[in-house]
Amino acid sequence: MSSGIWADPHRPIYHFMPDRERYRINDPNGLIQWKGRYHLFYQFSPHGPYLDDTHWGHAVSDDLVHWEHLPIALSPDAGGPDADGCYSGCAVVHDGTPTIIYTGISPEERPCLATSDDDDLREWTKYPGNPVIKNPPPGLEMVGFRDHSAWREDGHWYQVIGGGIEGAGGDALLYRSADLIDWKFLGSLMAEPLEDRGTMWECPDFFALGDRHVLIASRLPHETIDDVWRARVRYSTGEYRDHKFYPEQVGILDAGGNFYAPQTMLDDDGTRLMWGWITEGRSREAQRIAGWTGVISLPRILSLDDSGRLLQSPTTATDGLRSNHRRIEDVTLGGGASVRLDDVTGDSLEIKATFRCDDAGSVGISVRCSPDGTERTRIVADLDRNTLTIDRSASSLDPETLHTVETGAMPRASKNGYVEVRLFLDRSVLEVFAGGYAAASRMYPMRADSLGLEVFAERGQARLVSLDSWDMLSIW
Ligand code: FRU
Repeated sequence: MSSGIWADPHRPIYHFMPDRERYRINDPNGLIQWKGRYHLFYQFSPHGPYLDDTHWGHAVSDDLVHWEHLPIALSPDAGGPDADGCYSGCAVVHDGTPTIIYTGISPEERPCLATSDDDDLREWTKYPGNPVIKNPPPGLEMVGFRDHSAWREDGHWYQVIGGGIEGAGGDALLYRSADLIDWKFLGSLMAEPLEDRGTMWECPDFFALGDRHVLIASRLPHETIDDVWRARVRYSTGEYRDHKFYPEQVGILDAGGNFYAPQTMLDDDGTRLMWGWITEGRSREAQRIAGWTGVISLPRILSLDDSGRLLQSPTTATDGLRSNHRRIEDVTLGGGASVRLDDVTGDSLEIKATFRCDDAGSVGISVRCSPDGTERTRIVADLDRNTLTIDRSASSLDPETLHTVETGAMPRASKNGYVEVRLFLDRSVLEVFAGGYAAASRMYPMRADSLGLEVFAERGQARLVSLDSWDMLSIW
């Protein structure tokens, strides 16, 4: 694991990545459990970290952690409705046949179908009548018309397509079909336009969860897209009736600043799982030199609390990657200084820490700390404000990497003053779970000795009740 791309110290070892030296990966697509196995498709440029030449890559897993790479599922066809790219979409099973609904680019954005009839979903045949929707809804001037989320309801297929309407903003456009081929436009999914719609909603995902419905959409802002802005994914939970969605709770899905274009699936046990694209935090030039860009997140379990707020938690799938367990108990925190845990070092770790807050306003953990304190990434759970913050202001001595401080609202910050923070560190990737909330961030420390771990409390006293840590093994 030390040559070629593996020599890159920022390359994760237990997050899914393609088996290439040079590529771009972005949105997870077509998530489906078929014949018991989990299929992950993904937006993929097989030749380098470029934003064109978009295929669907494909991998399969039995345990949600170890992936077998399968042949590319969809490639652009010269002269076809996807000549300029096979953009994002979903997978459904229609009359027993696994079917992909994706956006063909030519350069118009149009819905297309492909089907497979082998058990491993290796071979995909494009529908000869593609695109199945020839034009966007009449009377609407679209700035974007792509990405698909489909479901079965009352003996019909329904789908929402991500839309951007000139002069109005982002939307989810609802369609109905008997056969996935002939689609009738029903209007906006939204009962009322959401505030702050941005210009376009990419990758809408709409599904039932508990007694509510959830809409997730990756909202493009009015400003020019850069990597920080791309990272804003909205969710709403609410009621779906008469083919309209009535949002009750609205929020930002992930507080980390690097999570985009997620997609969910319902597994055979009825669990709603979500994966997202973990974006980059280094310059395009650094990505070009590295040869690769993009990471797929670990799977997350979605659920709702009693008041309809969306909760995210990690699966137990990664437990089998744990090695070298260390446990620290009973450390007093406060007084402004961080406590360095000398026994816990590394750049691919799982950490599970329980704090008791006493009178502290916030508690937290710093990862990838250099001995001299010049590099560190801080994770702060603030109990006065119920927020989770990822502070990258000192993550790297490289000024060309992201140095933002990202904050989001935790649905349930503490239980009787106890806070649990779970984190998955995988070289340049950090995924944090706390208070039902999640945050994915990238950081690129320059120093080889930025491997330390610290814990701290602010604005008062707290106790680190326990901290379990494991070195994580590679999935490859
Ligand atoms: C979101 C997105 C989608 C599009 C795909 C192209 O990241 O822009 O809207 O289908 O990526 O790769």
